[in-house]
Amino acid sequence: MEGITLEDLSIGYGKPIVEGLSVHMAEREFWVIVGPNGAGKSTLVKTILGILPPISGKVLIHGVDCTSGCEERRYLSYVPQMESYSRDFPATVLDVVLSGFFPRLGRFESLKEEHYEKARFWLEQLGLSELEDCQFRYLSGGQQRKVLIARALVGDPHYIFLDEPTTGVDLKSSRKIIKLIDELHKEKGFGICMVTHEISAVWQFVDKVILLGYGGKFFVGSKEEILNEELLSEIYEVEVKVVHSEAGPVFLIWDKH
Ligand SMILES: Nc1ncnc2c1ncn2[C@@H]1O[C@H](COP(=O)(O)OP(=O)(O)OP(=O)(O)O)[C@@H](O)[C@H]1O
Ligand SMILES: [Mg+2]
Repeated sequence: MEGITLEDLSIGYGKPIVEGLSVHMAEREFWVIVGPNGAGKSTLVKTILGILPPISGKVLIHGVDCTSGCEERRYLSYVPQMESYSRDFPATVLDVVLSGFFPRLGRFESLKEEHYEKARFWLEQLGLSELEDCQFRYLSGGQQRKVLIARALVGDPHYIFLDEPTTGVDLKSSRKIIKLIDELHKEKGFGICMVTHEISAVWQFVDKVILLGYGGKFFVGSKEEILNEELLSEIYEVEVKVVHSEAGPVFLIWDKH
């Protein structure tokens, strides 16, 4: 079966954070993972990508059991949560993008002209060509996210996982990043799975949602099924109101009294 299948998955570090999660992410869908801090969103992404082993259950990619490694992993790529990426490392923008090939190169294989061409292709597509020789660590947060997206694209993934790609980025840059992700989805046909707290900003682009809460609670379904006042209020333990605007629903949160 095409896509990514999670079968009765339990995730965590020794003790499970979420248990019994079964999800099928079809090719070319746009998923978001939402929920409060510490609910396990990054842990789930790392487990799907094989960075962390599951406690139990399976991760299948295109129908192949990848729970303990498989070739199909190369179809998934990752834009990590910014906190986990070393911003001080002295490397140029081009070096950072080229590093996207490293997990895919053979043991004695080195970078060739075709790798440079592809890296430059994606830098150009993302409007970053002029920054090629700049030090990554001196770029703005928004530019750094785009470079990390370019790095995720060079390996021809089928699915791109992005962990909070707009956190800490100003409103306009955040919008640009979300539009870029939408273009990669609609025009280039990549499947997207994105962790985000910005439900209102992404709503119009999203197909499906995994909502994680505390105590192992979770809900999976279409955005209409999951992103509503009732479920969000339950999971966030605050009152959530949905106001309908021309640009789509806006999610407002205030304390329950
Ligand atoms: N390496 C680790 N070892 C042990 N526990 C961890 C580790 N990383 C995260 N945790 C714990 O696992 C839980 C889930 O963390 P996770 O980073 O997945 O949350 P999150 O939903 O991504 O939160 P945020 O919105 O803050 O990014 C938290 O309680 C966290 O403290
Ligand atoms: Mg996280």
